[in-house]
Amino acid sequence: MRGLAAATTHPESGALDVTANDLYGEGRWPEVFARLRRDDPVHFCPTSFYGPYWSVTRHADIAHVEALPQLFSSSWTHGGITILHNDPDIQLPMFIAMDRPEHTAMRRTVSPAFSPSALTDHAAAIRARTAALLDSLPVDEPFDWVDRVSTELTTQMLATLFDFPWEDRRLLATWANWAGDFRAAVSPALRRKRQRVLQQMVDYFGRLWMERRDKGLAPDLLSRMIHSDAMSNLRPQEFCGNLMLLVIGGTDTTRNSMTGLVVALEQFPENRALLEADHGLVVNAVSELIRWQTPLSHMRRTATEDTEIGGKLIRKDDKVVLWYNSANRDEAVFTDADRFDVTRANARRHLAFGFGIHRCVGARLAELQLYILLEEMLNREMRVTPLHEPMRIPSPFANGYRKQMVTITRS
Ligand code: HEM
Repeated sequence: MRGLAAATTHPESGALDVTANDLYGEGRWPEVFARLRRDDPVHFCPTSFYGPYWSVTRHADIAHVEALPQLFSSSWTHGGITILHNDPDIQLPMFIAMDRPEHTAMRRTVSPAFSPSALTDHAAAIRARTAALLDSLPVDEPFDWVDRVSTELTTQMLATLFDFPWEDRRLLATWANWAGDFRAAVSPALRRKRQRVLQQMVDYFGRLWMERRDKGLAPDLLSRMIHSDAMSNLRPQEFCGNLMLLVIGGTDTTRNSMTGLVVALEQFPENRALLEADHGLVVNAVSELIRWQTPLSHMRRTATEDTEIGGKLIRKDDKVVLWYNSANRDEAVFTDADRFDVTRANARRHLAFGFGIHRCVGARLAELQLYILLEEMLNREMRVTPLHEPMRIPSPFANGYRKQMVTITRS
């Protein structure tokens, strides 16, 4: 099936197409991007399942592109923020895929929910939920960490932020999974299923929207969006698009980092001993985890004029893909970059949250959830042992895990 084959070299031009799902499903992408950074860091691929595109692979070049949002547009009207062009059947505009000035007003509405003081208010509840969940896990009995821990904690968090009906919270994870699923682009059956699931989301949020609108302003994020100047007059599709952004942002990425923690500690066990000996390393360990995992492999921009990146001529309307996974392994910035090292001095320089005006608005909340998870595991002297290789998501966008069977032991 097209788009699902291994990484391919274009027969005539020699161009490298890095979009094959297997490259990510099999975890082989680091070697391919190392080659691009070395041989052709701003690389044009003339044909691919997703059409022609540029791969920008170096840390410095990606920061350069993100610092020029007028020249490199995020707008959904140009096709959006992923290598997969907007699906014409599901137009859900969201502010991550808008340029100034629309982007600014909507981001301002949402960002107070993630301010340091808002997070201080959340911290005790996150700790209580995390502690209760860890204490409920079976000891010496196999279970899926993705389902029991990563998905559960992140859906609980988002349900709290939205004041979403608690008993339905797993719907948030289902919607996030389908929203970010690129396989739907290659299979008509999956595409129909995805449309049905996303329509269910639109209907569900539509009902909540009416309820919250009639109830008047409440402290939850959904209510604040509904009653804000920037968002109260949005069309239902736009409102749902922005909610979908928070659903994907709030669950998928943090969830994959929580599983990445288990995978990284298994592959680089010397870090376990370091963390057990010094819990003060937790903050740096979380930055390093997010660098090493890079839960979103890329974001995409579209050039609005002819310009240059790294000496290459980029034409107006060209698709420019910013490979964060590659930037975070760039040897010009990170020594021995494939290693997970909780003592890495410059781990915070990672680009996993992006850079510039669209830099992740939920970054601090994601970090807080991860600090607390790691601290509570260390407080319990909990060791998590994977029972096999993780089942990875075969996608050039979400870099994460479908399943990771583990057992836990306590010393
Ligand atoms: C934007 C990554 C967690 C909400 C982004 C972007 C990235 C990203 C790469 C785009 C940046 C750019 O274009 O420059 C991540 C990662 C996370 C995470 C790696 C976890 C480890 C969260 C959480 C939330 C969230 C927990 C909310 C609950 C958003 C929103 C935007 C965004 C609303 C759009 C910002 C804008 O366009 O101004 N995130 N994210 N993210 N993220 Fe996150």
